[in-house]
Amino acid sequence: METQQIIIDTDPGQDDAVAILLALASPELQVLGLTCVAGNVALNLTTLNARKICELAGRADIPVYGGCDRPMGRALITAEHVHGHSGMDGPDLPLPDMPLQPVHAVGFLIDTLRSAPPKTITLCPLGPLTNIATAFARAPDIVTRVRQIVLMGGSHFKAGNVTPAAEFNIHVDPDAAAMVFASGVALTVVPLDVTHKALVTPARNAAFNAIGTAVGRAVAQLTAFADRYDSTKYGAPGAPLHDPCVIAWLLAPHLFSGRQINVEIETSSELTMGMTVADWWGVTDRSANALFLGDVDAEALFNLMTERLARL
Ligand code: BDR
Ligand code: CA
Repeated sequence: METQQIIIDTDPGQDDAVAILLALASPELQVLGLTCVAGNVALNLTTLNARKICELAGRADIPVYGGCDRPMGRALITAEHVHGHSGMDGPDLPLPDMPLQPVHAVGFLIDTLRSAPPKTITLCPLGPLTNIATAFARAPDIVTRVRQIVLMGGSHFKAGNVTPAAEFNIHVDPDAAAMVFASGVALTVVPLDVTHKALVTPARNAAFNAIGTAVGRAVAQLTAFADRYDSTKYGAPGAPLHDPCVIAWLLAPHLFSGRQINVEIETSSELTMGMTVADWWGVTDRSANALFLGDVDAEALFNLMTERLARL
């Protein structure tokens, strides 16, 4: 079995937390580190939450780095109304003992990509793309060393979740997103079109709880907290579980489908700031820069997650 080396760039976030656990539960993936960014909540909380999750998984050995505390050139927008004041409300997890690494996340990204053989490391951004774009801007030589980027962000048919036009991760730092989408790195995009089909229904939540471990119970509490806000907002039978879809795509790409298309990021119109302008129907002659996913076998996805999370 080939092991893929990944770096998870994250702003936990209940769904980020489940994504991290899913990665740590999967032997196909070697998590080289977690790079935290400001997004759902401020950086001091995302770095704290990431370490709580590593310790929950019994993986205090995973290095956790603090990164950018605000978007490139804009004020930070956070989402406490979705995630709670801690950013990860739901389970009552102890304060972590493991330290934050003394190195900045951007420095870690640059050094790690420079020292690894080219095209061996996959980046998995689950929040605003500030850390990744800052690393690319500071060290353009690393761009061609990235194997691929698989990110949660954007939307086409599902429209926006933070403005009528934009998805949260891209809206928070559209300048960073524009740099990443123009970078030439092989890109797989997991937009709301997919994640709004990955709904945590009551039965799926119960299946997490029925794992019967500390991790299973915490995942059930994390996903139940998200449900409190999201299923009312969307009138769906459960909240979308966004970020774990990134990790699931790495594990089981056959569960997803999408199109290789051009995706551009709106960075100037206040009305549509951070919109992912996805040429789904091929109506322009702009060249494809991303595999933009559109569908997922949700039942198989949740079976996979439950089976993996039970290993922790
Ligand atoms: C994305 O925004 C965050 O609130 C979630 O963690 C996810 O990454 C969904 O729009
Ligand atoms: Ca996130």
